[in-house]
Amino acid sequence: MQLFIDSADLVEISAAARWGVLGGVTTNPSLMARAGVSDPGQAVAAIAGRVDGPVNVEVLATDAGGMIDEGRRYARWSPRVTVKIPMTAAGLEAVHQLNKEGISTNVTLVFSAAQGILAARAGATYISPFVGRLDDLAADGMRLIRELADIFRIHRIATEIIAASIRHPLHVVEAARAGAHIATVPFKVLEQMIRHPLTDAGIERFLADWGAVGASHRATASDRGSKRELRVPGATNAQETTIGEGAGQCKNVPH
Ligand code: G3P
Repeated sequence: MQLFIDSADLVEISAAARWGVLGGVTTNPSLMARAGVSDPGQAVAAIAGRVDGPVNVEVLATDAGGMIDEGRRYARWSPRVTVKIPMTAAGLEAVHQLNKEGISTNVTLVFSAAQGILAARAGATYISPFVGRLDDLAADGMRLIRELADIFRIHRIATEIIAASIRHPLHVVEAARAGAHIATVPFKVLEQMIRHPLTDAGIERFLADWGAVGASHRATASDRGSKRELRVPGATNAQETTIGEGAGQCKNVPH
């Protein structure tokens, strides 16, 4: 399963890109607004410069013609733009047209398997089922991911499933187990995925143990060198066997 970042914040995107974990980026109008983006075209170019892989940008129009126009315009910003289109009748029409023009699409706000099947058949490159928002309604968001993964596998549908509306690390792990191709993850959750209290405690203990040995002791130990020369019984006068300390490797060294 690939990891995308669900963010329009260039600082967050750059940080996660440096970790080497990102396969793409998803944005939506809420995320663009939260990141203070005023020129989405410029923002997309900057994001595409930091992350290899698709950069998802969502249309604002609600009619098919408007969505198609916006999609064509977004696609000119970068060859890696994927146009995000909401799961409506107009959205399906737009996906169908943009797909014919070779423009990548992601049908968003998918909340049922029926919607996912329609989006795939219209030609969506990706669909985005919203796990967290289903969980919010006491529905099982992950069950939808499993259903869609089963259906797409049985019918050899190439549309990829992006598990979206991810709220915590367990969502990411469960999405991977459920067969999502991609999880799009907020920066905060990516950070949470890094951390484990036993990792922190382990680092602290290693450093404390090492620090407990005095600098002079370390210097003496290092003076003694990493190699100790030992006379090995049976070696001739013309030979001496050196044993690499710790590595257990022997080498005959002529005088
Ligand atoms: O990828 C969709 C995401 O941005 C929505 O997340 O947490 O607002 O449901 P959320």
